Amino acid sequence: MTTRNALVTGGAGFIGSHVADALIAEGWSVTVLDNLSSGKREQVPAKARFVEADIRSPEAAACIREGAFDLVCHLAAQIDVRKSVTDPKFDVDVNIGGSVNLMSAVHASGRKTRFIFASTGGAVYGDFVEPPNLETYAKDPESPYGIAKFAAELYLAYYARVHGLDYVSLRFANVYGPRQDPHGEAGVVAIFCGRLLKGTPLTVFGDGGQTRDYVYVGDVARAHVLAAGLAPIPPGKVDDRAFNLGTQQETSVVDLARILMAAAKKSVPLEHAAPRPGEQRRSVVSIEKARNGLGWSPQVSLEDGLRRTYDYFAAR
Ligand SMILES: NC(=O)c1ccc[n+]([C@@H]2O[C@H](COP(=O)([O-])OP(=O)(O)OC[C@H]3O[C@@H](n4cnc5c(N)ncnc54)[C@H](O)[C@@H]3O)[C@@H](O)[C@H]2O)c1
Repeated sequence: MTTRNALVTGGAGFIGSHVADALIAEGWSVTVLDNLSSGKREQVPAKARFVEADIRSPEAAACIREGAFDLVCHLAAQIDVRKSVTDPKFDVDVNIGGSVNLMSAVHASGRKTRFIFASTGGAVYGDFVEPPNLETYAKDPESPYGIAKFAAELYLAYYARVHGLDYVSLRFANVYGPRQDPHGEAGVVAIFCGRLLKGTPLTVFGDGGQTRDYVYVGDVARAHVLAAGLAPIPPGKVDDRAFNLGTQQETSVVDLARILMAAAKKSVPLEHAAPRPGEQRRSVVSIEKARNGLGWSPQVSLEDGLRRTYDYFAAR
């Protein structure tokens, strides 16, 4: 069998490095492109080729045009929702401009490359919808980050309809697991692990009843392998090629803290701080479409995933 070539942007980061690992385990030849702005060189798998470049740059476009890639998994992004609020122009630059730079390079390469985009199942839907969020729900993002992620999906739909780009959009819920950076979109698990290890109280904003859908990073990586093998989807509406990835289970912050402490066999007090303005009360995605369309469902329970994550931080 001929070797299949994949490019993973953001492959020095948390989720991207797991995606690169999963593809290598399936026999893909992997190139990682990352500017190391938040990623770490040592997280790039030893078997991957590494290109240090910015997704907005001509070098990144040339890497795609000349790389003969069968697959591009695009995970590099400005991931901080709060930074998108304070500096929306930078967020647009990276998350829309950088993404379009890659799409247009795939188009220019003339190859049939499968493009998998890391979107979000929380920020794109906003607060007007009744959870669990379906892919077809109205998109009313509450942040520049959510707007940019959805704008990139609209560009992908455009490239698919007009230029035949073959893409899949994966809308992740709150991803957690080893290598997570405590400053990320869903850094609460990493932050709580750090505090538990130090024996300091876990801070909960407001009453701690706000819910999220926590999905283990290994499950998200496996979804990329499945999406890479999906039969081409005919051009259509933006949601046709989108799949939520989560667990369809809502977990409150207080319950998360309790389950983590049980998994770690260690206990510290919870301390309540003032609620954060604008914080979503409930967020959980429907995963029926990923079950039926990708043959994917999460395999790692929250208890098991939290134990693995805690053990990872404890070993460092
Ligand atoms: N963590 C979550 O729960 C979550 C939820 C929904 C969506 N996502 C999306 O998943 C993807 C990966 O997120 P993550 O949590 O692994 O974050 P991360 O910060 O660990 O990974 C992002 C990687 O992209 C790189 N990068 C950033 N800007 C770049 C640029 N301009 N050029 C090249 N490389 C650049 C960083 O160095 C880093 O290695 C992102 O697209 C993010 O928006 C994450």
